[in-house]
Amino acid sequence: MLKFMKHRHQDYYPVHANRPMQFRKVLAWVCCGLFISQSATVSWAEEVTVASEIRCDPAQVLGAESCAKCHEQEVRQWKLTPHFATFELLHRMPEAKAITKNLGLKSVKRNDMCVKCHYTRQLIDERLRVVSGVSCESCHGGAKDWLALHNDYGGPSAKKELESAEHRQHRIESSVAAGMNNPGNLYLVARQCFSCHTTPDEKLVNVGGHAPGSLDFELVSWSQGMVRHNFLRTDGVTNGELSLAQLRVMYVVGVMADLEASLRATGLATTKATFGISSAQRAAKLKVKLHEICQLVEDAHLQRALDAVLCVPLKLHQTKALQAAADQVGEEASAFATHADGEKLTAIDRMLPKPSEYKRRAESGE
Ligand code: HEC
Ligand code: HEC
Ligand code: HEC
Ligand code: HEC
Repeated sequence: MLKFMKHRHQDYYPVHANRPMQFRKVLAWVCCGLFISQSATVSWAEEVTVASEIRCDPAQVLGAESCAKCHEQEVRQWKLTPHFATFELLHRMPEAKAITKNLGLKSVKRNDMCVKCHYTRQLIDERLRVVSGVSCESCHGGAKDWLALHNDYGGPSAKKELESAEHRQHRIESSVAAGMNNPGNLYLVARQCFSCHTTPDEKLVNVGGHAPGSLDFELVSWSQGMVRHNFLRTDGVTNGELSLAQLRVMYVVGVMADLEASLRATGLATTKATFGISSAQRAAKLKVKLHEICQLVEDAHLQRALDAVLCVPLKLHQTKALQAAADQVGEEASAFATHADGEKLTAIDRMLPKPSEYKRRAESGE
């Protein structure tokens, strides 16, 4: 440990792939030393890209009713979640009123700041309207351009059962190209979760007093409880549960997408306060998790993601380096999500959350 102390004020980041405990201690120390000797103001905020923004273009949004015709059960399940309920509840909450007051905003529903994460906006007759809470398209992408593609088995009379593997592949790819966050690549959906659940908005947190993201968010436990709506894979019979192999892939994709978003959030920080510190701590924690995973399984994408983040300084004034690392992690996460074989990831089973830890509705346990 002493050996590292000497490097306290440098961006020295020791890598000991075979000594996880020591590595973890060092990370914890780097984490504590975050933001040491940083000045409080910056002028580069303009340069920051909007890569951490939620990707749901109101001009592309059709609204949940347009899904209901074919996805009735998914819609019913969604209506049981806080994502749906926030539409009616948020503006009545004293905590919400306190945040808007701190920010000098008049209404919860009529300002961009709250709307982009708590609601879905749709462009109707050239006017932006708030149409629901966090909805299908908040996670799956505005559907205007992909709706007709995503269920096209090859013409009006084509049957799902007769669709070739090639056509299916083509269908999924064209839906993604048209803006769909198709769960065929889980990363595309996961990064939507984190663009909201890391709360990448410094002013909202530091001035408004909003929580700095959902600090205990973890993709398996947060998506496999009340949020789960897998009726398609069971032909509508039940709300299907994922296999262990699928859960493993989801867990790893979640760690990577969370790391990516946390690095971006850290890069957005301009002052040494709650937002910057909690974002950097979150990123540091995820680095450790990714390192742990890399010790258990050998995978080139995971290794490249780890290499990209090992030396990145979790500090102010490092926006470019943090964004570059985030870009790389995102790229590897996407490749991992589409190529990984969950059957080969048994080594990480002890890292997976238990079903009793899944986020369920308080009243029903569902
Ligand atoms: C006209 C019927 C229809 C409408 C309307 C519709 N879908 Fe679908 N959707 C389907 C069918 C059929 C499938 C199954 C495709 C398959 O077999 O892979 C599907 C699959 C999906 C999938 C899973 C993709 C996959 O490849 O596994 C998602 C996500 C989805 N739809 C979201 C939506 C959303 C969001 C809306 C509303 C904006 C919507 N759908 C509207 C028929 C529809
Ligand atoms: C970047 C995304 C984002 C923005 C912008 C945002 N929120 Fe949130 N907010 C969240 C998330 C995610 C949660 C859920 C946190 C959790 O439960 O872990 C949340 C939770 C809340 C809660 C607690 C809700 C509850 O049921 O306990 C309040 C109150 C709140 N937000 C108010 C606001 C207000 C007011 C604004 C606008 C000034 C706003 N939020 C803007 C993402 C956001
Ligand atoms: C557009 C922003 C947005 C996206 C995308 C999003 N969420 Fe949320 N989520 C929220 C907000 C806001 C809340 C809090 C709502 C409230 O309580 O008012 C929330 C609440 C939740 C809750 C309930 C938390 C609790 O403590 O009860 C779960 C679980 C959850 N989200 C999981 C997910 C998962 C999993 C994903 C991705 C697959 C996701 N969310 C994507 C904004 C979002
Ligand atoms: C909070 C984010 C979120 C919201 C909101 C959401 N989805 Fe999903 N959806 C996901 C995720 C994540 C998956 C993949 C889950 C999995 O594999 O367990 C998914 C999977 C699906 C599937 C494929 C299910 C299967 O059996 O393979 C369909 C269809 C779908 N969603 C439709 C919808 C519709 C319709 C709505 C709105 C009523 C909706 N989703 C709302 C995140 C979301």
